[in-house]
Amino acid sequence: MIFDTHAHYDDEAFSEDREDLIASLKEAGIGHVIDVGASKASQPLVKGLADRYDFIYGALGMHPDEVGDLDDRLWEYIKEGLDHDPKIVAVGEIGLDYHWDVQPHDVQIHWFKEQIRLAQERDLPILVHSRSAAADTMAVIQELYGEGTPGFAMKRKGIIHCYSYSLEQAKLYTGLGFYLGIGGVVTFKNVRKLKKVVTEIPLDHLLLETDCPYMAPEPNRGKRNSSFYLPYVVQAIADLKGISTEEVEDTTWKNAMDLFQIPV
Ligand code: NI
Repeated sequence: MIFDTHAHYDDEAFSEDREDLIASLKEAGIGHVIDVGASKASQPLVKGLADRYDFIYGALGMHPDEVGDLDDRLWEYIKEGLDHDPKIVAVGEIGLDYHWDVQPHDVQIHWFKEQIRLAQERDLPILVHSRSAAADTMAVIQELYGEGTPGFAMKRKGIIHCYSYSLEQAKLYTGLGFYLGIGGVVTFKNVRKLKKVVTEIPLDHLLLETDCPYMAPEPNRGKRNSSFYLPYVVQAIADLKGISTEEVEDTTWKNAMDLFQIPV
């Protein structure tokens, strides 16, 4: 079975057919989904989906583009969900985005660290969004999860979602115990760096994700993405590593079950 560790089924791109689509995921071999918060509006929607569907779990947290909307009320709402809702299993997505640069870097870094603290206080994993911000993301992770810090001792650290950086950085992240989220991009041509990462980094450190409605794999690139397309990602990883698709599914499934501590 396939574990989709990063989806946005709360997104309006699914407004027309959300219920039918979610209802047919299980027969397509999608065993679990983490629906991930990003904006202010998405937090209650994530919680609603996780409460309604037994196989959907949720992550609450504010995307770096959206941290300007954080206020006391929303902060309390996120904490309440993390503390009291057993279906909320991670803090995310949080991080740094210097590509769109919607918020000043110091503001992004401040809220990235504050949200990491929410996770660390509760022994929860984080789902990290990082775009065009390799050095600063690594600096924050080293500061809060590096050797000698309390975060280093945590068994479950988190995922660098939609991993796009170098093999050297990948080794540092996985050396600390982070997983790399691999999605549709691995099926694209001209992504030699990512293909090298997927080839070299052991499967024990990789997870499957869609980031749907975005990031649809070939041959559906540019269309609305969903967990139904994950077999293309599984096939691409299997081809790069020279292993079976079953092994990719089974190992990434087990990785995700361990990380999110989903009851069997
Ligand atoms: Ni996302």
